[in-house]
Amino acid sequence: MNSPANITDPLVLFMPSGKRGRFPVGTPVLDAARQLGVYVESVCGGRATCGRCQIEVQEGNFEGFRSMAATMALAMTLTVAVAERRDKASK
Ligand code: FES
Repeated sequence: MNSPANITDPLVLFMPSGKRGRFPVGTPVLDAARQLGVYVESVCGGRATCGRCQIEVQEGNFEGFRSMAATMALAMTLTVAVAERRDKASK
C-alpha cells in the first residue's frame, strides 16, 4: 500500500498532459504515470524488456536525458515528456 504523498516528496510533471503529482523517492516514473492516469506505452507491463516506455527529462537535473519510465526512479523534482500516443491512423 502506498503511503500518502508528502510535501517534500519529488514532484513529477508529465508533458504534454500537464498532470503532476508527488511521489516518494524511488517510485518508478512508470508507476507515477499510471497513478496519475498518464498514458505511457508499456508493452511488457513495466518489466523493462520492451523499451517502449521512453521518456525524456525536460526540466530538472539531467535535462535531455532519455530513459525508460519503468527503470527510472524518482529522486528529485522533474518535468518529463512522454511520447504521444500512437493511436490508429487519423482520418
Ligand atoms: S514498459 Fe517495457 S520496458 Fe518499459
